[in-house]
Amino acid sequence: MRFGVPHRHFRSTDSTNTRARELAEGGAPHGTVVTAAEQSEGRGRQGRGWTAPPGKALLYSAILRPLDQRHLLLPLAVPLAVCEVAEELEAGVECRVKWPNDVWVEGRKLAGVLIEAGSNGWAVIGVGLNLAVEPLDLPPELRETATSLAGGASAQQAREALDARLDRWVEADADSILAAWRGRDALRGREVAWEGGSGVAAGIDDRGRLVVATAGGDRVVLGAGEVHLRP
Ligand code: BTN
Repeated sequence: MRFGVPHRHFRSTDSTNTRARELAEGGAPHGTVVTAAEQSEGRGRQGRGWTAPPGKALLYSAILRPLDQRHLLLPLAVPLAVCEVAEELEAGVECRVKWPNDVWVEGRKLAGVLIEAGSNGWAVIGVGLNLAVEPLDLPPELRETATSLAGGASAQQAREALDARLDRWVEADADSILAAWRGRDALRGREVAWEGGSGVAAGIDDRGRLVVATAGGDRVVLGAGEVHLRP
């Protein structure tokens, strides 16, 4: 596994995930990475957008192929790689993971992951990591919930670090991924709510699904979607 070869950088594009998907459809090899200084239509999970001020975030998409049974926990493995990148780039930062694949620092979102799989055996791993984003760079609704590294690391440093960490985490075995994820779990023991209910997060199962204990004594297992911390 080797991410970052080849690498294509755009000063501006609509979405690095969209560019990488096109390249994947056209047969680009495993490891191809697309980055941009600016995105006009950055995409997030659940049909949301992704906002980042120009030049102040790592906007990164990598092609993984072939996508197969070894990658069942990929959505958990990628944020672990991102956590290690952030901690490598800035001393004192301690990252946690919010199911399914947000990276948090002190309860705020530092990075997001959007993984998109194609029908013929590839996936694009999209990562947005705030490197030097200031609150006023963000739309008002994100100022209380987002955070950033302090600006000491360049996008190139961050990209190279992520290439290397993905090399390891994309290949990691399930036990290593689950253990590392459980060690960083930001939700465990916290009150959470989702579209269908609420309860206390009780960790992830061996398939990477979120387990929630409800007030009625049930255990609910969530395989997809979004949960929110209850205030
Ligand atoms: C999320 O938390 O909702 C996921 C956000 C993923 C954003 C990144 S930025 C680089 C790549 N290109 C995109 O359009 N989205 C991902």
